[in-house]
Amino acid sequence: REVGSVIPIPSPMGGTNQQTWMVTRMKESIQVLKDHAHFTVDQSSIDDQNDIRQINADSSAPPTFLTGKSMLSVDNPDHQRLRRLVSKAFTPKYMESLRPRVQKIADELLDKVQDKGEMDIVKDYAYPLPINVISDMLGVPRSDQAKIRDWSGAIAHGLGLGREEPGVAEQIRAFGEYIAHLVAEKRHHPDDELISQLIAIEEEGDQLSEAELLSMISLLIFAGHETTSNLIATGTLMLLDHPEQLERLKTDLHLVPSAVEELLRFNGPATISGPRFAIKDTELAGQQIKKGDMIIPVLKSANRDELQFEEPEELDITRKIKRHLALGHGIHSCLGAPLARVEGDVAFSTLLRRMPNLQLNVPRDSVIWNFTLSSQGVTSLPVAF
Ligand code: HEM
Repeated sequence: REVGSVIPIPSPMGGTNQQTWMVTRMKESIQVLKDHAHFTVDQSSIDDQNDIRQINADSSAPPTFLTGKSMLSVDNPDHQRLRRLVSKAFTPKYMESLRPRVQKIADELLDKVQDKGEMDIVKDYAYPLPINVISDMLGVPRSDQAKIRDWSGAIAHGLGLGREEPGVAEQIRAFGEYIAHLVAEKRHHPDDELISQLIAIEEEGDQLSEAELLSMISLLIFAGHETTSNLIATGTLMLLDHPEQLERLKTDLHLVPSAVEELLRFNGPATISGPRFAIKDTELAGQQIKKGDMIIPVLKSANRDELQFEEPEELDITRKIKRHLALGHGIHSCLGAPLARVEGDVAFSTLLRRMPNLQLNVPRDSVIWNFTLSSQGVTSLPVAF
């Protein structure tokens, strides 16, 4: 309260001479995410020279969503066009139809560890579940998952200052080359899955260009698994930290969808949204914002805004949540939200139904958090059951 809700900070991404602002409350975060007359996701539309996506970008590498244009990094009308071409695959109705597939994957993963009486939630469950789902959905071979995991780690670093770290540029290049190769394969041997559908898509004479296709597929692979893995793993940890909430949930699994929303609000995987940039000089919560300034809505903070939530620091799986920002807000809000919700619902219900005596198998203070600029998760979560 004392420092205000729009706070000047040093740029966490480098590459810009403009001021960076951190937005901590829900009201102003929503304002930034919705007011397209004043704020854009596309820095190049204001200042081509300072575009953070292009800093240290390897222009000879195939484009990925980090360097090329994807729905995440363009405004309307381009955003609407790109999102519409893929959104048919992400309707809540279609995601619900995937539920049996998600359930089968969850059960197979737990079958493998059932007799051992212990597992690492991250390695054995939270990581493989979403990556299996999105790989199957896109038509990516499951045998490529280990490589994808390494590349995704590099990309998570590449979203921030870490792009300058040794090896990160090479990893991003390798990811781009892998996707270009995959697309070439699918052109020769199309299947029924999403990559082949995106290649074949033709709507009212519109089609994705090669660069758009590569950026979109890289975005779907990246966004489609790491965040949901983090939700399942940190969500489990949050429940273990709150035994009375865990007990309540175990006795009434109908509460799982509400628990998923509360876990997203309480400690969701995306700590900030992508940065926005001021299109013109403006004012935000009393601060003078200059054209070109970078503005970062801190979703994690907005989700604990005491002006919006009663007892925001309490985890309450029965909380009636009107709105949280864990999946973003406005036109760029999470495309995969219906999928993440189905996966979260299946993952927690199946885990608690099959392993009701779940408990942490290491001292609590040995659980290590893994923070990148925009995400949070745990590196491993050993449990006994
Ligand atoms: C956008 C979070 C799962 C695909 C976003 C945004 C957030 C977010 C906060 C908005 C970013 C911004 O405005 O700058 C999450 C969380 C997830 C999750 C917390 C899991 C719990 C998924 C899944 C997919 C996905 C499973 C599936 C492919 C996308 C895409 C966008 C997006 C494509 C860009 C949408 C646009 O710009 O129109 N996500 N996400 N996400 N998410 Fe997710």
